Amino acid sequence: MAEFSLPKNSKIKPGKHFPAPEGASNVKTFKVYRWSPDDDQNPHTDTYDIDMDDCGPMVLDALIKIKNEVDPSLTFRRSCREGICGSCAMNIDGTNTLACTKPVEECGTRDVKVYPLPHMSVIKDLVPDMTHFYAQYASVEPWLKTKTPVSQSAERLQSKEEREQLDGLYECILCACCSTSCPSYWWNSDKYLGPAILLQSYRWLADSRDEATGERLDQLEDPFKLYRCHTIMNCTNTCPKGLNPGKAISEIKKLIAERSM
Ligand code: SF4
Ligand code: SF4
Ligand code: FES
Repeated sequence: MAEFSLPKNSKIKPGKHFPAPEGASNVKTFKVYRWSPDDDQNPHTDTYDIDMDDCGPMVLDALIKIKNEVDPSLTFRRSCREGICGSCAMNIDGTNTLACTKPVEECGTRDVKVYPLPHMSVIKDLVPDMTHFYAQYASVEPWLKTKTPVSQSAERLQSKEEREQLDGLYECILCACCSTSCPSYWWNSDKYLGPAILLQSYRWLADSRDEATGERLDQLEDPFKLYRCHTIMNCTNTCPKGLNPGKAISEIKKLIAERSM
């Protein structure tokens, strides 16, 4: 897994400490990034000691316990609690992942550090601003585009083999763990689409029913949108769904190279 630690001169200072209840014997400490536009404090980390004998096994269980029982001001996104919605993506113990599928037990360090996804603007605490990411997603027109008319009652069929081309692509939950682990995306996210959006773009290029391959490739053939990928592969190492955005990006590059031969 790719690791992202805070810079040595990080200005993020410790904040409040919430101790575990008296008598707790299985205590885990969570150091959680806090920042709110509603107060004038700088970003800091609050420390929560949690009795793991009275808490579910995942990092999201601990965050929910903190919010419900210790500090209701803590803000984070979550919905499905089973790795499907992508909304609980954050940086845990130095790695971008989903809080709902990350066992506390697997966090290596004594204190579990929980930060928002790196290099994103923060709306509050662990909630990053996904506006630009979603606008980039919309820019690849992520829907089936066809020219051949088909009657309303007919389906656009695929062979078993054609359908298999979408395996490893359709499972992407747009959590952004990969894009926010990618150094090229950190520095050029205004122009570079990043691994998540490029994997989504390839999902339509690989779809045998889609008839817009040429225009999709025209749109991607650009020094920044696609070619800022330098095959560092943080994206693939980080994906909590085990997908390979780095490979999807190489497939797009291959399609562009093949059509100019
Ligand atoms: S490829 Fe993986 S890490 Fe990237 S957005 Fe999709 S599910 Fe998340
Ligand atoms: S392979 Fe490309 S997209 Fe993935 S982390 Fe490296 S530069 Fe970013
Ligand atoms: S809460 Fe949906 S992926 Fe974690």
